[in-house]
Amino acid sequence: MNKPLPRLGVNIDHIATVRNARGGNHPDPVAGAWAAIQAGADGITAHLREDRRHMRDDDMERLQLLCESENIPLNMEMAATDEMRDIALQLKPKAVCIVPERREERTTEGGLDVSGQHNRLVPIISALTDNGSRVSLFIEAVEHQIKAAARTDAKVVEFHTGAYAHALDEGEQEKANEILKALQKGATLARSLGLEVHFGHGLTFDNVGAIAAIPEGMELNIGHFIIGEAIFMGLEPAIKEMHRRATQARYG
Ligand code: PXP
Repeated sequence: MNKPLPRLGVNIDHIATVRNARGGNHPDPVAGAWAAIQAGADGITAHLREDRRHMRDDDMERLQLLCESENIPLNMEMAATDEMRDIALQLKPKAVCIVPERREERTTEGGLDVSGQHNRLVPIISALTDNGSRVSLFIEAVEHQIKAAARTDAKVVEFHTGAYAHALDEGEQEKANEILKALQKGATLARSLGLEVHFGHGLTFDNVGAIAAIPEGMELNIGHFIIGEAIFMGLEPAIKEMHRRATQARYG
């Protein structure tokens, strides 16, 4: 039987953040990935940043071995740099998500400017695709970015849900509704152009429902909240509860 949609990609970056706070090997993000897979994660997501603030190169290698042996996709998030392209070409993860990256940012703050950086992105996307990785582009749900994504070899767009999450956090319900409408409209457009639709960033137990209910959405990538919540309830219950809420929102 097929698993219910949307798939849940668990981003384990912040297990590495905790490990790096002391510079040793504990907690090991690869052991965290193993636990996430046992708890029902449909994929493992990890962002190798230019400054290596959480995941390290050897983590990515060990994650790829684990995911391959468990037949679970590894989704490597990366900036569109030559260094990251070469690492991804060597690593051959099932999926690569290209994200914008600024050294001084706390997290990925906005979507990728696919229309503005088209000539820079196209050869990187094509090289990764030809190498067997399915490329997704992390963008805002705006028409010109979706259309620009469809003009590349990328098969997937991941829509940035950070602004939606932030509006709800701030109690700005009307703004959140507007953003949700844009995400729904963007999902319809992306599907009509042949792109698979994912969502990610800032998703929590409380805000995942409306996003998971968007029928075109095939995958959610969620990290910070799940890892944070694992402190209180454990990783397995946090993943199971996120799955439960997402599938309940989709299927009622
Ligand atoms: N998707 C992408 C492309 C991201 O860059 C991130 C953050 O690394 C996430 C999803 C997960 O966001 P969060 O940690 O807020 O759940």
